[in-house]
Amino acid sequence: MDLREIRVNAGRLRNTLEKMAEIGGTPGGGVHRLALSDDDKQARDLLIRWLREGEIEIKVDEMGNIFGLRPGKDLSLPPVMSGSHIDSQPKGGRFDGIYGVMATLEVLRTIQEKGIRTTRSIMIVDWTNEEGSRFSPAMAGSGVWAGKLEREWVYTRRDLQGRAFGEELERIGYKGKEPAKRWPIQAYFELHIEQGPILEKVGKTIGVPMGIVGISWYDVEIEGKANQVGPTPMEGRNDALCAAAEMILQVEALPVEMGGNMVATVGEIHNAPNSRNIIPGQVQFTVDLRSWDDLLLDRAGKELRNHFQRIAAQRGCPARMEKIWNVEHTAFDGSLVARIAKIAEEIGYSSHSLVSGAGHDATYVNQVGPTAMIFVPSIGGRSHVEVENTRWEDCEAGANVLLQCILQAAS
Ligand code: HGY
Ligand code: MN
Ligand code: MN
Repeated sequence: MDLREIRVNAGRLRNTLEKMAEIGGTPGGGVHRLALSDDDKQARDLLIRWLREGEIEIKVDEMGNIFGLRPGKDLSLPPVMSGSHIDSQPKGGRFDGIYGVMATLEVLRTIQEKGIRTTRSIMIVDWTNEEGSRFSPAMAGSGVWAGKLEREWVYTRRDLQGRAFGEELERIGYKGKEPAKRWPIQAYFELHIEQGPILEKVGKTIGVPMGIVGISWYDVEIEGKANQVGPTPMEGRNDALCAAAEMILQVEALPVEMGGNMVATVGEIHNAPNSRNIIPGQVQFTVDLRSWDDLLLDRAGKELRNHFQRIAAQRGCPARMEKIWNVEHTAFDGSLVARIAKIAEEIGYSSHSLVSGAGHDATYVNQVGPTAMIFVPSIGGRSHVEVENTRWEDCEAGANVLLQCILQAAS
């Protein structure tokens, strides 16, 4: 049998994606499946049930990362690993993350169906808490596994209701016994939707990222002086929300000010006491800065801190800005990147080189062994929203490229 002729079962892949989209499915056609929620548990349980059907050896580590091993002929050789994440954004999309896990499952099913025994073992992975929305930072499961984040610190991270990561992991029954500790890998492939407009714009099917931008996350707290809105004159107010508003517009202006290729966003804000007739006393908001240029990213953070101190002083609203997470830009393994493009073209798909503006677990796995990603187009370039969508034939194309990448790396 010529392994290069093998293709996935597109209908079966679609069926797994549609089943998973029912777990945490939203009326608007998206998915609300926050990390360590009951929905995350339900989806994990379903993944494990499917893996068990395929005689896959399963282990769950102390970060809740789920690994499934299809043994190869030579167990002494480092495995080929592939996967992504099951957790979603609040009212997010039904492809982000889960598509890479389901496509890897489909690859394993196809390999088993054809009775192929690869030289190297193949390992599927679901990384815990990739999104970092409910519990910051992002990519916590892969970050601890790679030895870049500290497990006990991640366990203490709390959501808006004050629930701790470690307790929630225990509650859903996925605080495994296995140490979350890296091991050698032959290669890691992560198949993912592009989450941007490029592939659709250039009319290409397969995206081959050279790497991922660097990301810095900050938490900002502003202390004003709450008071009755009526009797308190405008003069001399310490309105925390107005201070935040001025700072937030400064974040938006930062990329132009820094003159470099970067993006800057305030995505989350909390105002207290948040009553229409009380002058806001406390405000918290988040800052997300991204750039391929790590030095620029660092300078931008420092520039922003200066702006915030100036505004805080002018308004008598002391501000605290804490850098809670930082990953430098990721350059993937050049030979794997080239191989993905070659395989795509060989099996009849157009391909296009780009840089990922979205963060992925591949960032951390890349610090352990040769890593690369495969993208498929996002319709309208939309993601992290309920309308996130990808054509089924593109889902099939990505899975076929993944299948061939894994077969080549494992043989
Ligand atoms: O933030 C990101 O790009 C990813 O979704 N965690
Ligand atoms: Mn993702
Ligand atoms: Mn995401």
